[in-house]
Amino acid sequence: MKLEVQGATRIYGATRALDGLTLSLPDARILVLIGPSGGGKSTLLRVLGGLETVDSGTVQVNAHHLLADPAALQAYRRKNGFLFQQFNLFPHLSARKNITLPLEKVHRHDPAKARSMADEALDRFGLLEHADKLPAQLSGGQQQRVGIARAVAFSPEILFLDEPTSALDPEMTAEVLELIQELAEAGQDIILSTHEMGFARAVADHVAFIASGRIEECGPPASVFGSPASPLCQRFLSRVMRY
Ligand SMILES: Nc1ncnc2c1ncn2[C@@H]1O[C@H](COP(=O)(O)OP(=O)(O)O)[C@@H](O)[C@H]1O
Ligand SMILES: [Mg+2]
Repeated sequence: MKLEVQGATRIYGATRALDGLTLSLPDARILVLIGPSGGGKSTLLRVLGGLETVDSGTVQVNAHHLLADPAALQAYRRKNGFLFQQFNLFPHLSARKNITLPLEKVHRHDPAKARSMADEALDRFGLLEHADKLPAQLSGGQQQRVGIARAVAFSPEILFLDEPTSALDPEMTAEVLELIQELAEAGQDIILSTHEMGFARAVADHVAFIASGRIEECGPPASVFGSPASPLCQRFLSRVMRY
């Protein structure tokens, strides 16, 4: 994927969530966003995914110029898959129904086609035996895997994952990270925010460190983790890698 963000600013009340953020990546496959809480990772993910627009600046993703045109933005958004930290699934619907619903309502597939796409996605991630269960009958890790199955069931242009494992215990974190790794290896373009630094290092081809609404450091994982130039990034990494 190609990302071209120039001077992107997004303001909430008195907060500049993005503050003149610039990012130029002509050819990225797996972009991982790291940085302190409140730095702007989620806002950037939402902007790049077309869920939100910037107040000023320009954002281009592949051939899409993300302008404040609601119809174009909606069409773009529908090409992408999303998974957030938690509460991704409808609690009153089975795992399968959680997947078929957007396939029918958003992507306009007929029920039979939606069901076969859902079962294929569930099967791909070893979740078919859980198809008829409600989210509450699944572990947190299984719920996130169903969430990812839903997000990739229609082969999204880009998969956006916002701290997909932050609400999970270590074992469940591992099962979700393995699935993401599998998708990465299968060629899915992914933009992901995470606090799992080891995973970021292993899976990313580009890592961007975001603080105070700006990209402070961006490059291949070996250079961002091995020899960061930004003092802010150095301080952040030395703090989070200490334990
Ligand atoms: N919808 C919102 N309304 C008000 N403030 C927001 C909203 N979204 C984000 N912010 C603020 O913008 C800043 C960046 O937030 P966010 O993008 O969520 O950072 P991160 O994901 O890195 O923790 C924070 O100060 C946050 O409180
Ligand atoms: Mg966030």
